[in-house]
Amino acid sequence: MATPRWPWPRLLGHRGAGVLAPENTLAAFEAAARLGVKGVEFDVMLTADRQPVLLHDVRLGRTVPGRGAVAALDGSELLELDAGEWLGPQWRGEGVPLLPVALRRLRALGLWPNLEIKPTPGRDIATAHVVANVLQGFWPDPSAAPLEDLPLVSSFSVPALQVMQQRLPALPRGLLVDRVPRDWQERLDTLKATTLHVREDRLEAKLVEAVSREGYGILAYTVNDPARAEVLRHWGVDAICSDRPDRLLQAEAAWRD
Ligand code: G3P
Ligand code: MG
Repeated sequence: MATPRWPWPRLLGHRGAGVLAPENTLAAFEAAARLGVKGVEFDVMLTADRQPVLLHDVRLGRTVPGRGAVAALDGSELLELDAGEWLGPQWRGEGVPLLPVALRRLRALGLWPNLEIKPTPGRDIATAHVVANVLQGFWPDPSAAPLEDLPLVSSFSVPALQVMQQRLPALPRGLLVDRVPRDWQERLDTLKATTLHVREDRLEAKLVEAVSREGYGILAYTVNDPARAEVLRHWGVDAICSDRPDRLLQAEAAWRD
């Protein structure tokens, strides 16, 4: 069951469908929907000409061919590149999606978005402004919408989250951390964040309890082992982000909500 702290799907496909399809592509969203996953996490950064694209790495070479920084390429150049073939020939021809195209596809598929702002170095504020512009078009009146109908914007970048807070205060924000800092509560309060997203192997039962007690939602990333997911759920983790959503769906009905 969804909790009031986390009124969204409890299992998110990491970068779309985790390792089951090329990350951060439309094919990944389709794969997630086919599996029965209800929500996805994906990463957004800017090209040289400030187009918001779905990519994780700030440099070319792993999921798209080439060398150098993503921030050095214009959208027209980047959108020509193949973002699927690295995972297997059956994915050849899959491109890097622009954020508005991705959001339209997610709507059509009925998938809930957790958008991670993943700025290239030094572009935290610019990236957040572009993301805010796009989200404003898709959710023109967030303050009138129930929380479950809104996307969740998360980031490791505090400046990016601060821009979101100024620009679209009614859109929920999640602070991403590797390890939970001592002053987590102060940080969440200052950002008026709704959720805390933590690397799963850095979590402890006591911490989950404390974060939940204060009324924040808590997401663990990246959880691929059903047994570990079960432990986290018992501790009170609200949601998990997974590279193997297929395994988790099979193992535990609780993640299907
Ligand atoms: O949002 C959770 C997770 O995606 C954060 O790490 O590096 O996979 O974007 P990363
Ligand atoms: Mg991410």
